[in-house]
Amino acid sequence: MKVAIIYHSETGNTQKMAELVAQGCRTVTGVEARAMSIDDVDNDYISEAKAIIFGSPTYEGSCSWQMKRYLDTGPKGLAGKLAGVFASQNWPGGGGASFAEMTMIAALLVHGMLVYSGGISVGTPYLHFGAVSRKAPEEDLYKERCIKLGNNIAKKALELFPKDQ
Ligand SMILES: Cc1cc2nc3c(=O)[nH]c(=O)nc-3n(C[C@H](O)[C@H](O)[C@H](O)COP(=O)(O)O)c2cc1C
Repeated sequence: MKVAIIYHSETGNTQKMAELVAQGCRTVTGVEARAMSIDDVDNDYISEAKAIIFGSPTYEGSCSWQMKRYLDTGPKGLAGKLAGVFASQNWPGGGGASFAEMTMIAALLVHGMLVYSGGISVGTPYLHFGAVSRKAPEEDLYKERCIKLGNNIAKKALELFPKDQ
C-alpha cells in the first residue's frame, strides 16, 4: 500500500518532518511511503496512494499561503482517501501550528478526505490534530511525533483499505 506525504518547505524544516513521517509509515509492514514537495507532486503516485499526509510551515498563525494555494487550486485524486497533517512553527509557546493544521484539515474535508491523527486513543506520544515541531525536528520530542503520525496513518490505512495491501 502506498502513502504519500505532500509538504511545503522554504527552509527545510517541514521537509525534515516529512521525511520522518515517511519513516514512520514504513515501520508498518506492507506500506511504502514517499515524501514530495508541493512543487513536485507525482500525480500517478497520488492516484495510487490510499493515504496522503500534508505538512506546512506556520505562516502568520496559519498554514503557508503556498500550501493553501496548492489546496485551493484543484489538487487531483484526494477524495475518499485517508489524510493526516503536520506543521512546523517557530514559537513553541503558541506559534499557531494547530491552527495551521486545522486550516489544512478544513480544506481536506472539503476535498472529501477522511482526516485522522490517532489522537490520544493510540497512546503516547499523544498527537492532537497532527504532528507539530518547533523548526526542524531535531529533538526526540518532535521526531517521535512525526514518526508516530506516519505509523498511525499507515496502520489506519491498512485497516480501512484491506484489499489494497
Ligand atoms: C512569512 C512567515 C511567517 C511566519 N509566521 C510564523 C508564525 O505565525 N508562528 C510561528 O511560530 N512561526 C512562524 N514562522 C516561522 C516558520 O513557521 C518556521 O520557521 C518553520 O519552521 C519554517 O518551515 P520551513 O523550513 O519548512 O519553511 C513564519 C515564517 C515566515 C517565513
